Amino acid sequence: MIASVLAPQALARAGALLRAGRLVAFPTETVYGLGGDATSERAVADIFAAKRRPHFNPLIVHVPSLGDAEDLAIFSEPARRAAARFWPGPLSLVLPRRPGSGLALLASAGLDTVAVRVPAHPIAQTLLRKTGRPVAAPSANRSGRISPTEAAHVAEDLGDAVALILDDGPTTVGIESTVLDMTRDHPALLRPGGISVEQLTELLGPLAEPDPGLPKSPGMLASHYAPALPVRLDATASRPGEALLAFGPDAPPGFAEVLWLSRSGDLAEAAANLFSMLRRLDRPVFCGIAVMTIPEHGLGLAINDRLRRAAAPRQG
Ligand code: TXA
Ligand code: MG
Repeated sequence: MIASVLAPQALARAGALLRAGRLVAFPTETVYGLGGDATSERAVADIFAAKRRPHFNPLIVHVPSLGDAEDLAIFSEPARRAAARFWPGPLSLVLPRRPGSGLALLASAGLDTVAVRVPAHPIAQTLLRKTGRPVAAPSANRSGRISPTEAAHVAEDLGDAVALILDDGPTTVGIESTVLDMTRDHPALLRPGGISVEQLTELLGPLAEPDPGLPKSPGMLASHYAPALPVRLDATASRPGEALLAFGPDAPPGFAEVLWLSRSGDLAEAAANLFSMLRRLDRPVFCGIAVMTIPEHGLGLAINDRLRRAAAPRQG
């Protein structure tokens, strides 16, 4: 069921459902999350079931403040600095789990680390405070599909698997949080996202390459965020029947339909539009989705990361 957050009692009801072990989808500034009580193995297992994820992979645990995060994970000095600068906001920090944190082991998929995030969205903040428990929340899409930036996307993908969907309109950032591994000597980028690499290196110095020994998770597989149609990158000319995601003032002619990620070449606007426009073009009337070149800096890194996964050869 979709509930507008303007409906009286919607947030109180959502908090009560989460405390009772049920799943609630809610808006964050990045994408809609599929939330479950992170201290309940059963609720976390239900998240994997609802997403139809083929494997368990570690989830991001959401809390309302840095103080709450410190109850769950052990912060190094650089981790605290990153949190002080970018929380609340689209950054997830992978840290050692604090012994006795009460977190479900499944939330970490058996690792001795946990990814924590303090979201900035006011509805997410209120929900977390009302719930009074850490909330594990992957993006609220079926496994392998495009992340939801609107409540209707969640309903399409998850339907009855979720007790309640809190609707507060489209999300503002539009791509997921940046995931930073803070468990080693140098911070390493695990997933580009809403906080740019430039912003992070300015605060923390150069980032390291991810640990090659880290278990591969679906979120990091090459083919992910896959629309049903084939996706073609760096398009400079049309092919018959293709739709186009355009960037910048001029689009090549001849496409069956054109949606502009950003006419002015604004990467933040493009990120916010990316997933909903991919969904809108992913229709059998077209034979493919072509995308113009997106510059590889700032949020462009995260956009290109998602686009390359959308364009990668499909895994059976
Ligand atoms: O913006 C976001 O981060 C959204 C909203 C709802 O907050 N959440 C999200 O969660 O994107 P999810 O589960 O779709 O992505 C979690 C990512 C995955 O790439 C996962 O492998 C990585 O974080 N991750 C989580 N815990 C980890 C850990 N302990 N070690 C390494 N990677 C981890
Ligand atoms: Mg996801």
